[in-house]
Amino acid sequence: MNASSSLLLSVVLASCLPVLAAEPHRSPVEVVVSGTGEWLATANQTSDSVSLLQLPDGKLLDELSVGEHPTGLIYAADSNRIYVAASRAGEVWELEVKQHRLSKRRVFAATGEPTGLAMHPDGKRLFVTLTALDQVAEIDLSSGDITRRIAVGRWPRSLAISPNGNRLVVSASGDRGVSVVDLAKGELAWTDKFMGINVGQFVIDATGSAAYFPWMVYRANPITRDNIQRGWVLASRIGKVRLEKQDRREAISLDPQGEAIADPYGIALTSDEQHLIVTAGGTHELLFYQLPGLPFESRGGPDHIDPLLELDESRFFRIQLGGRPQGLKLSPDNRFAYVANYLRDSVQVVDLEERKLIDEFPLGGPSEPSLSRRGEAIFYDGRRSLDQWYSCHSCHFEGGGNSVAIDTHNDGSTFSFKTVLPLHHVHQTKPWTWHGWQTDLEAAMRKSITSTMLGKEPEEADVKALIAHLATIEPPTNPYRAIDGKLTPSQERGQAIFQGRGGCASCHSGDHTTDGEVHVVGLEQQRDRYRGFNTPSLVGVYRKVKLLHDGRASSLESVLQRHHAPENVSGEALNEKELADLIEYLRTL
Ligand code: HEC
Ligand code: HEC
Repeated sequence: MNASSSLLLSVVLASCLPVLAAEPHRSPVEVVVSGTGEWLATANQTSDSVSLLQLPDGKLLDELSVGEHPTGLIYAADSNRIYVAASRAGEVWELEVKQHRLSKRRVFAATGEPTGLAMHPDGKRLFVTLTALDQVAEIDLSSGDITRRIAVGRWPRSLAISPNGNRLVVSASGDRGVSVVDLAKGELAWTDKFMGINVGQFVIDATGSAAYFPWMVYRANPITRDNIQRGWVLASRIGKVRLEKQDRREAISLDPQGEAIADPYGIALTSDEQHLIVTAGGTHELLFYQLPGLPFESRGGPDHIDPLLELDESRFFRIQLGGRPQGLKLSPDNRFAYVANYLRDSVQVVDLEERKLIDEFPLGGPSEPSLSRRGEAIFYDGRRSLDQWYSCHSCHFEGGGNSVAIDTHNDGSTFSFKTVLPLHHVHQTKPWTWHGWQTDLEAAMRKSITSTMLGKEPEEADVKALIAHLATIEPPTNPYRAIDGKLTPSQERGQAIFQGRGGCASCHSGDHTTDGEVHVVGLEQQRDRYRGFNTPSLVGVYRKVKLLHDGRASSLESVLQRHHAPENVSGEALNEKELADLIEYLRTL
């Protein structure tokens, strides 16, 4: 039995049996619809599979296993092929839909966390974001080779190409903005940096003049009740960038007072360009905007949604979907929106004319969510925060970190900005927080909800569920580490320095490169509430854009030459070549 039929069989069985141990969650993150509207397909992140469903009834036709952690999914109507970016596998899969079945055609190597995909209008070249390498790679579809690599800024994920094929727009959340690439030249045209984090998907208008995208803004104000409610901490926006020539981004504010929007992500544009449809994962909803007349502003602008927009149902409305709505596509006639709902393991169908959820297609999954799945739902739930402005994920993007230092009041003092700690293996790296004052993870979870998010006191069961979820968060695949774990000669020399003359391993020790102790390493400031810092884990340090507790360094070179030089910590001074080797090694952790 092949993988596809065994998965399908388990789906069939699950519908007759109460619980089937092997039945995985599907967690769809993206959906595509065929040009004729006869089928749709989803990329299922937890089950590492693609599902094919018949339309309009949603009957499950097939499910095929693909590489680990599928993230991007596109459909090329001309060739009738589906492409899937399997981010942890470092692969792009080419599939075909034939006689109601999915089949694998080719697999392209794309090391470096492939996340987003876009087809060039010539149909011959596929563009893929390599998030961990800060690149967009061009894959020539005849040879299957990567023919160009374009540096586009930190943490590219979503991307889109203009209809004439001249411009590519790509998110660069690590640089807190969006980059535009000149595709003829194959180089970065510009990056617009505008305090954006978690930049979502793009749509481009038919003339190719502008791209629209949802994102969140972080405004560097302390977390207080007033600041949250004013929209001065984290808030949601739809942005607009001009593609032909550089201009400052424009934006509209999305958040209604008292009932904000969290984690906007997916976007679609109706073919008459009259409406933008957006998903908001954190507030579990679909948002609908009439595009002409949206009050885009390039500077300033209100902190909340324009009151005229909010009160006019022909210009704006929101529909509750539950779960975690992610990617979406419209039916060819623009009547229906098909939404991939991660936490509901389903595709939801919204009738945009009737303005209601009319159907839901289950993709399969356990009938009862496990403890960690319940914790995952809390992690992505913006309703856990005051007036639902943001979720854990807004700061800890998919369980990792983000690109800003935030004053969470965590250590009890104001204006003590700390970078967001990634949560991979966090349950094993006691104590917690940069100062290391937190020694009880349950208490830390309560504090995250009631103090960082100013949300309601969680139930005991919620705290346990969150911790169970933290234990399951897998880090992305590190592109600097060979699959067999073998080090290059330079990395090997760096390892010897790390363990020897550099003196690093005296504190950065053990599996998670931390001794779990607080040390005074010369980076303390007078206003610190606690003395010294908790040795941070260096696992995944290759992808950080802001380093050290307050984000004062933006590269490993700067950490080790200026702020945390070996001779100032406990080792010996290193020459340039030794330092380069040490950094090569650090990137493999
Ligand atoms: C507004 C941004 C923000 C939100 C929302 C947020 N965190 Fe954090 N988190 C941070 C920052 C910043 C730190 C580092 C704080 C410090 O060290 O003082 C942190 C630290 C942590 C730590 C300690 C990590 C370690 O290695 O010591 C855990 C665990 C954690 N957060 C979990 C959560 C969970 C779970 C949620 C949701 C309930 C959440 N956070 C919501 C910003 C945020
Ligand atoms: C005495 C204990 C100690 C030693 C020895 C030590 N470190 Fe650290 N390291 C720390 C502490 C504590 C921090 C956090 C400091 C801060 O953020 O203010 C840190 C931070 C770092 C960071 C930044 C991590 C991040 O997430 O931003 C890097 C990188 C690092 N150390 C690498 C090294 C290397 C390489 C060596 C050896 C040359 C070394 N450290 C030696 C304790 C130590």
